[in-house]
Amino acid sequence: MQVDRRRFLIPIAGIIAVLVVAAVVVVAVIVPQRAAVDAATARLEAAVEARDAAVAAAEEARAALLAAGDEASALLSVVGRGAVADPSTLDALAAVTVDAGDPPVPNAVPPAPGDAAAIDAVVERVGAETAALEERAVSLAAERDAVAGASLAVVASVHAWGLNTPTPPHAPADAAEAYTAALSALAEPAADADLVALVTAFRTAFTTALAAHELASRSVDAASVQPTIINGTLIANKTFRIPSSYGAGLTPETEAAFAAMQAEAASLGLDLYISSGFRSYGSQEAIYGNYVATQGQAEADTHSARPGHSEHQTGLTFDLNSITEAFGSTPEGLWVRDNAHRFGFIVRYPPGKEAITGYIWEPWHLRYVGVPLATELVTTGLTVEEYFGITSVYSY
Ligand code: DAL
Ligand code: ZN
Repeated sequence: MQVDRRRFLIPIAGIIAVLVVAAVVVVAVIVPQRAAVDAATARLEAAVEARDAAVAAAEEARAALLAAGDEASALLSVVGRGAVADPSTLDALAAVTVDAGDPPVPNAVPPAPGDAAAIDAVVERVGAETAALEERAVSLAAERDAVAGASLAVVASVHAWGLNTPTPPHAPADAAEAYTAALSALAEPAADADLVALVTAFRTAFTTALAAHELASRSVDAASVQPTIINGTLIANKTFRIPSSYGAGLTPETEAAFAAMQAEAASLGLDLYISSGFRSYGSQEAIYGNYVATQGQAEADTHSARPGHSEHQTGLTFDLNSITEAFGSTPEGLWVRDNAHRFGFIVRYPPGKEAITGYIWEPWHLRYVGVPLATELVTTGLTVEEYFGITSVYSY
């Protein structure tokens, strides 16, 4: 049988042609397109991975800022104003605001569309999100550094306070050593140190040493007792004694500050004069003894210090004008109340603080503490006892 081969050749050629065209299309168009989509998909995966890392970094920076904020608040609650060399470091810390914002939430990434250009548009969007997250992490870290810096400044100020506050002299060796060790731990805290714990340990060590000092000083005779000095301020009250040999008149700073205050008062027509200045142990003994003889000890203790306990023995204290409550409402008494701090003096026993200072209101009794501390005490309304966290109570 004769077959007309041409009848088959034409369709076969057609099929081959179609196949060739299809192959050409596959090779020239579909394969590269597919490769481009694959490449873009890979870029998208990398971009999403980078974005997720940026989310994690931003969240880490945010957590670090929140932790620094918590540390700052805790420091503010454990460090009293009288426990820093410079209370303005506490003001700076209190002024710090923590704005951590909401947690970073990544945007949903749509399923990869079928063409490379569309995928790249998503890549670009994810990239922009990543850049914004990275920027946020940087600004959160900067904010964290500022908060941590303010906390570190407070710790440095507590350390300076400690360097300026020698171990209370009658504290026994173990309490003294614990105090010194707690102080040196504040010197250069490690980056991951728990600042609140370090400061708390230091404050505890100081309180313990001070209590031990006070206890031990009870059995020390009047001449051998060692003065208690907290951050440069000599303490004399019902709890803390000073040696019977202490002082020899008003100190030069006290006299100079009084002269300046007296001159300014005089320029306003006010007459200030010292009616009782420095007192030796012996003269305080006589004054107090006299009150006890006439009023009884309980009454005398409300307004007159036992010998060894009077601020008049420090050379930093004097009584002004008339020693009566009425002085407080004279023009002189009112002016002194409002202005003495500018010269470094405080009205040491203010009204309303009798249970804390141990004495009735004495508008005439001024104590020199220097301008910074006097201003701090007047501004905060704190007594010396409240400021340093100490008592004024006789132990005998
Ligand atoms: N009047 C004060 C308390 C003194 O005697 O020192
Ligand atoms: Zn006095």
